[in-house]
Amino acid sequence: MENQAVQTTEKKKETVFSAIQPSGAITLGNYLGAIRNWVRMQESGDYHCIYALADLHTITVRQEPAQFRKNVIDMYASILACGVDVEKAPFFIQSHNPNHAVMAWILDCYTQFGELSRMTQFKDKSAKHADNINAGLFTYPSLMAGDILLYQADKVPVGADQKQHIELTRDIANRFNSIYGNVFKIPEGFIPKDGARVMSLQNPLNKMSKSDENVNGYVLLTDPDNVIMKKFKRAVTDSEAKVRYAEGKEGINNLMSIYSAVTGLSFEQIEHDFDGKGYGDFKTAVGEAVIAEIAPIRKRYEEYLKDKKYLEECYRKSDEFAIRYSSRTVEKAMKKIGFVK
Ligand code: TRP
Repeated sequence: MENQAVQTTEKKKETVFSAIQPSGAITLGNYLGAIRNWVRMQESGDYHCIYALADLHTITVRQEPAQFRKNVIDMYASILACGVDVEKAPFFIQSHNPNHAVMAWILDCYTQFGELSRMTQFKDKSAKHADNINAGLFTYPSLMAGDILLYQADKVPVGADQKQHIELTRDIANRFNSIYGNVFKIPEGFIPKDGARVMSLQNPLNKMSKSDENVNGYVLLTDPDNVIMKKFKRAVTDSEAKVRYAEGKEGINNLMSIYSAVTGLSFEQIEHDFDGKGYGDFKTAVGEAVIAEIAPIRKRYEEYLKDKKYLEECYRKSDEFAIRYSSRTVEKAMKKIGFVK
């Protein structure tokens, strides 16, 4: 009896799917904007969470092989260090599950050239990599659609820059379903409310990014404490010398968002606490709060990196789960299309 009750509540849990590209080290922006939220959803117990390292997506831009391999392992270890726990939420490597490539091809045939041409990320990336506008860069959104649809995901937490891809995923899924019946669950994208949008410390109009040419613009989870503090002390602010959230104070607004995200304090509370204090004090407080949050992650990361066998155990187990789980969707889709079994 009791067991049955457990099973029915289990069944009702929504599936959450998300993935991130392995770019090596994680920035404070990736952490506060995405990964911390992955961990919260996993820990809430309200969802069935499935996470992936989207390495197939990464080769749309040319990679140096040894560096690429290292980036994948570093990123895998970092995300475990942030608190993703494969016992609660499988975290697999996309290229280890061949169903992704199969599904991407199938969905390519149900995605229109015009739709892909309208993707702003494609336009941005092809401007940035004008010497290598390959077909993969163009069809990237149908690979991503496959990632999500393979797991019949209900919810997909993403950054604002991925919203258009989620909309396209829904269009592709609806199109497929309208031809063949209910094959895919129609997923919903959502931009987590408490996921802070972290901006560059040097140019707070831009998103914090590792591709910033100024290293002081971003904080990495692997930065030593003194480097983190130095970067916050150098953060661009304004000349008003008053800690308050307002238009035109993008540097301070960003520091306040970061501080609020790591301490849980509201903007009002922060304004109150720093009333009459200078930016120097505030920057030090932000630096200290960030260090308190990420120093333990860095320590765990260094431990995981030394234990490659453990990392491998984690992804092998997750890969197996992912292959098994997604095979049902691929088989169903292929049968509906009319492939001979
Ligand atoms: N394209 C996403 C990014 O670059 C990463 C990604 C790949 C993803 N597949 C996904 C995100 C599926 C959500 C769901 O950020």
